[in-house]
Amino acid sequence: MKFFLDSANVEKIKNAVGLGLCDGVTTNPTIIMKEGKEQKSVILEIAKIMKGPLSVEGIGETAEQMVKDGEEFAKWAPNAVVKIPMTAEGLKAVRILEKKGIKTNVTLVFSASQALLAAKAGASFVSPFVGRLDDIGQDGMKVVEDIAQIYRNYGFKTEIIVASVRSTAHVERAAKCGAHIATIPPKVFEEMFRHQLTDRGIARFLEDYKKAKK
Ligand code: G3P
Repeated sequence: MKFFLDSANVEKIKNAVGLGLCDGVTTNPTIIMKEGKEQKSVILEIAKIMKGPLSVEGIGETAEQMVKDGEEFAKWAPNAVVKIPMTAEGLKAVRILEKKGIKTNVTLVFSASQALLAAKAGASFVSPFVGRLDDIGQDGMKVVEDIAQIYRNYGFKTEIIVASVRSTAHVERAAKCGAHIATIPPKVFEEMFRHQLTDRGIARFLEDYKKAKK
């Protein structure tokens, strides 16, 4: 299973790359806006330190504009993956970009039908947003389980990126159903390391070590 960081925070990405635990990065306009930086400069910075797939999102609404944006992103970084919204125009752009050798990530996917269309269009990646489905009272991870089964049934090469991850439980369920990738916000990534019994155990061993030395 691959871990992507869902972030444009260069320091946090550097840290995860340093740990050998960051296989890629996903961004979107909201994530970039939070860093208070301009899109191109932050993508160039990330591309310098992270060589895995780097998802970059445009705001084009027509296939023509999306292709133009994608070609531009590919010039910024050889590892750029173009995020394409799940629309008919988007899927047209997916076919064109993939034919040109530019990878795509179909985003804002909320159902197995949408994921099936994205795979048939030849997308390299598909991003179901599990947290946002949970927010409206649905089980986001159930959609991922369905997509994983459908892709297995037909041997689709499209990789599933579990996105809109809100908890370690999302990552665990993603791993359980065989999703290829989880794109994890830094806060959840940090939580994955922790358990209260680990902290308590370390403190106890340290105390006992000091006592034993006396
Ligand atoms: O990768 C998609 C993700 O950034 C969306 O997350 O938390 O805005 O639903 P969220």
